[in-house]
Amino acid sequence: MITRNDPCWCGSKKKWKKCHHPLLAPQDFQSMKETYFKKYQILLKTPKQVEGIRAAGKLAATILKKVCAKAEEGVTTQELDDYAMKLHKQAGAIPASLGYGHPPFPKGICTSLNEVICHGIPNEKPLMKGDIMNIDVTSILNGYYGDCSAMVTIGKTTEEKQKVVDVSYECLMRAIKILQPGVLLSEIGQVIEDYATSQGCSVVNQFVAHGVGVDFHEAPQIPHTYNTIDISLAAGMTFTIEPMINAGVREGKIDPNDHWTARTLDGKPSAQWEHTLLITDKSYEILTPA
Ligand code: MF3
Ligand code: CO
Ligand code: CO
Repeated sequence: MITRNDPCWCGSKKKWKKCHHPLLAPQDFQSMKETYFKKYQILLKTPKQVEGIRAAGKLAATILKKVCAKAEEGVTTQELDDYAMKLHKQAGAIPASLGYGHPPFPKGICTSLNEVICHGIPNEKPLMKGDIMNIDVTSILNGYYGDCSAMVTIGKTTEEKQKVVDVSYECLMRAIKILQPGVLLSEIGQVIEDYATSQGCSVVNQFVAHGVGVDFHEAPQIPHTYNTIDISLAAGMTFTIEPMINAGVREGKIDPNDHWTARTLDGKPSAQWEHTLLITDKSYEILTPA
């Protein structure tokens, strides 16, 4: 881990604290922006871009909340998708998931139930009492992206399912609370894996969090597990944190038929929550507030 008196990572031969340490010696934005892009392909956002991402994030969070409120026993995930599509249209926005990737994701939101880790595809099957479900909404508004997800519980569920729901939420919030310029990217995975394992849960490492804002998936990739990525968070970074927490083993398997649905290898439940975050001069802002 880089400390204040170490040589700066930028190669200047100056001490870190006198060079690119973002808290103690803030660089002018333009030079940071160039360095982060050259070194990491990370795009530090301008105030104007932040404004656009904030609006997209607010919309995604609003749509997520409305769709979650409609999730009850007997409702199909296709009906939730239809509703999310309608809300995007009304707002003059586009759901980023629709047509994304290879093969193109066929729906506007992801609905991941029970043992599904992520990327569940809405279908005609009604929700059942005891189901837990992640709903993931990414909205494109005026070219900017906001990405968020939340869990819903259909009636009362089992202790094991409730546990992954609660632990994944706590993992997300604990990771968010440490965010500020100068914090290392690896500290996010550290906080998450420390807490999840203390609760007897495992953390998925097959999928990561990501930069987001002017594109759906930008640099950097952010593991939710122990790692040694020593990139310092810097003001203007926008990215997600979206820990996927399993009751059993961390490994998953992608459905060989639809090429999207990721399920836990042992069939035990999995849960996830997601926010889009901005690193500010001294701290952070949640760009997808509930
Ligand atoms: N929203 C997901 C994420 O958090 C990605 C979904 S990709 C899709 O990164 F194609 F499955 F929608
Ligand atoms: Co995401
Ligand atoms: Co998402």
